[in-house]
Amino acid sequence: MYRGYVGMLVVARTHRKLKLGSALVSRALAVMQSEGADECVLEVESTNVGALRLYQNLGFIRDKRLERYYLSGNDAYRMKLLFPLSPERAAELEAQSAKLAEEEEEAAAERKRAAEKQGT
Ligand SMILES: CC(C)(COP(=O)(O)OP(=O)(O)OC[C@H]1O[C@@H](n2cnc3c(N)ncnc32)[C@H](O)[C@@H]1OP(=O)(O)O)[C@@H](O)C(=O)NCCC(=O)NCCS
Repeated sequence: MYRGYVGMLVVARTHRKLKLGSALVSRALAVMQSEGADECVLEVESTNVGALRLYQNLGFIRDKRLERYYLSGNDAYRMKLLFPLSPERAAELEAQSAKLAEEEEEAAAERKRAAEKQGT
């Protein structure tokens, strides 16, 4: 049994609701699937409506409620997604992941050009 895990997902406040969180998790899922993972699990605070919705949109289901899981005393849900993804879903994740990588490359090239321009 090979299990993937998602933890410590955070997007800067200034950049939320732009699908960056979804793109990051999609990318990780695409890699897990290609590496032969059987499932992916994560924990999320039971009151974290945004994160719960994000994971559910990606196909995670609530597997278990973990009572007083956090030091704050709050409960968590363990969420689970089983591999393999459907071929359509896998293709979608691969495409999202490729798009993100492309955007990252473009942004890096842009930063490089800006730095070079400043240097001249
Ligand atoms: C949770 C978090 C990572 C989401 O990142 P994000 O890049 O803003 O999320 P996305 O733009 O990919 O959101 C995808 C979907 O998730 C849901 N969602 C995300 N944030 C939401 C919010 N604040 N309230 C309600 N739904 C939300 C929505 O359904 C959204 O789809 P929509 O934009 O079509 O409505 C970000 O809010 C964050 O860093 N929060 C603090 C840390 C945290 O709670 N991490 C999760 C720990 S398990």
